[in-house]
Amino acid sequence: MGPFTNDLLQGKVVLITGGATGLGRAMGEKFVALGAKLAIASRREAVLKQAAEEMSLPTSTVYYKSCDVRDPSQVHELIEAVENHFGHIDILVNNAAGNFISPTERLSPRAVDTILHIVLHGTFYTTLEMGKRWIEQGRGGTMLNIVTTYASTGSGYVVPSAAAKAGVLALTRSLAVEWAPYGIRQVAIAPGPFPTEGAWSRLSPTPELEEKMISRIPLKRVGDKEELANLAAYLVSDFAHYLNGEVVTIDGGEWLQGAGQFNSLAEVSDKQWDELSEMTRKGKG
Ligand code: HXC
Ligand code: NAP
Repeated sequence: MGPFTNDLLQGKVVLITGGATGLGRAMGEKFVALGAKLAIASRREAVLKQAAEEMSLPTSTVYYKSCDVRDPSQVHELIEAVENHFGHIDILVNNAAGNFISPTERLSPRAVDTILHIVLHGTFYTTLEMGKRWIEQGRGGTMLNIVTTYASTGSGYVVPSAAAKAGVLALTRSLAVEWAPYGIRQVAIAPGPFPTEGAWSRLSPTPELEEKMISRIPLKRVGDKEELANLAAYLVSDFAHYLNGEVVTIDGGEWLQGAGQFNSLAEVSDKQWDELSEMTRKGKG
């Protein structure tokens, strides 16, 4: 049961980086259920193989190939292989990422490089390789970039990720204009917290940190991967064809909670409001 008919993505060929785990896998499963032909890629071959077996349907075998998106030659081989396998690609989902929490002053230059290389350079390499081919082939396509809410706001303790995701957001908005004449569309999703093994083990490794994270979300819960997968399916579908260069936030209101100057007044009790009300009415004179 879902918001779409089962043929929403019928026949569309989709490549998802980081598609064997977490949110990438949830999007992939959804796309296959909606009729897409799916390819997934990431570094760990054994993880890919198992995921592809589990994600395949009797009518649709998921293709996989290992690829480190930090290496442009591996990215070239990946996209070449997927095109050879399925004939062409319609949709690229840039989902692969690396991240961990750390005070910035504790980071080594190599730690910074690692995150920037995976998130910013890796996304750029896949985007470039795919875009050049789509332009040469004279066919359009859709690119979906998975960013974060702090791509717009910035965030302490994940600074290389914030800088890299901000770059990816700029890439999304820039190419939305430059490549639109080629029929290439750009969209992005900015997720708030969604519990995945990859993210939680590096960003929220204790129950206390998780509790703190949830307390900041107005809806008082984390996201469900299915919710994100449904949003992704709509954004890459032909029904979203007029959406270009847009980033859609799916975070239960989390970033607005931090942004609104008076939002901490949610902690004021009814009794305190009675007293405050007396005081604020005096301002009327
Ligand atoms: C400080 C760290 C570190 C940590 C690694 N380093 N982990 N520094 N704290 N926790 C440093 C290392 O010491 C090394 O620097 C450098 O980073 C590279 O580390 P490697 O282990 O050699 O890198 P590599 O094997 O390439 O692994 C990349 C990785 C790893 C990013 C470090 O965590 C990974 O594979 N992640 C992929 C999956 C992932 O991160 N998923 C989460 C996505 S969630 P030196 O100088 O010592 O050599 C997300 C948004 C979440 O992106 C938003 C939540 C709301
Ligand atoms: P995840 O399961 O750890 O996903 C990251 C994926 O990227 C993994 O499959 C990983 O596979 C792959 N990857 C990492 N480095 C790579 C590289 N160099 N080359 C190719 N693939 C690489 O975590 P997730 O939570 O699902 O994250 C998915 C996306 O959502 C990321 O873009 C993340 O920034 C974003 N996001 C997540 C959350 C959240 O709360 N979960 C919030 C905001 C944004 P290998 O290790 O096998 O390579």
